[in-house]
Amino acid sequence: MTRIVTTFPLPDEALALLREAGPVAGPEGWRDALADAEALVTILTEPIDAALIDRAPGLRIVANAAAGYEHVDLAACRERGIVVTNTPDVLTDATADLTFALILSAVRELSRAERSLRAGEFHGWGFWDYLGCDLAGKTLGIYGMGRIGRAVARRALAFGMRIIHHSRAPLSPDDARALEAEAVSFDDLLARSDVVSLHAPLTEETRHAFDRGALGRMRRGSYLVNTARGALVDEAALVDALRDGPLAGAGLDVYEDETAIPPALLDLPNVVLLPHVGSATRETRARMAMLAARNAHAVLTGRPPLTPVDE
Ligand code: DGY
Repeated sequence: MTRIVTTFPLPDEALALLREAGPVAGPEGWRDALADAEALVTILTEPIDAALIDRAPGLRIVANAAAGYEHVDLAACRERGIVVTNTPDVLTDATADLTFALILSAVRELSRAERSLRAGEFHGWGFWDYLGCDLAGKTLGIYGMGRIGRAVARRALAFGMRIIHHSRAPLSPDDARALEAEAVSFDDLLARSDVVSLHAPLTEETRHAFDRGALGRMRRGSYLVNTARGALVDEAALVDALRDGPLAGAGLDVYEDETAIPPALLDLPNVVLLPHVGSATRETRARMAMLAARNAHAVLTGRPPLTPVDE
């Protein structure tokens, strides 16, 4: 009898741990195995809603191998006494590194330069060719100063940037001092930042926080970088802000609908587009899978989960 269902292929180490707690089914035919499942180990592309949960009447834990959990119906889980866990911390550095790669790519226009070279347009060094802008002395505005936002701020300091942030929770005095980061209103963040980087979770409050009005209030010639969730930004309005101003460019790793990137975005030359690879390093993905497995194993063996979602 199946005790654990996984919706994605797990590394051997994670599988071995789970098998100590019971038989594992999936990813092939994982939905059909739900009837007996006590633990569901899953990822962000599978919506975990009430209808799905009802197919697993014995479910005790949804172990989500991602930091974000907006695809899990927390209220439905709570009602049924099902624990939900995520994988914070283990992906912080990978995601902050990727964010910085996107910031650099956007302001130095690396995609455009590479496309030009591949198109045979580079015929030797030119003094006024391929110009981007400096980061040193510029202001980075961080929207959402959680673990990843703070890790991005640490990197930005090393690049000589000034840091301002707009966040739900205040920074601890130690972090505020170490990061030399100033808390500002949302409008100040928009008006003062040369680069705005998004690190907030997707909630009803943050959905489309960067709508047409907000994008229009950003500094002329500034950049928007999003490695959090696509729906924080109104993508149609972003296309217009990149085409007609005020934005000089953007770096995106996430999209409103990740199965259908708008052609208008694909056609813009001043946006760097990545396929949601923020946490995509071998080490980080292994740690995420292992932490999800540890959470499931803990609950199935009568211990508290390591990283519960507490909302
Ligand atoms: C997450 O964990 O929420 C990322 O989007 C994928 O690593």
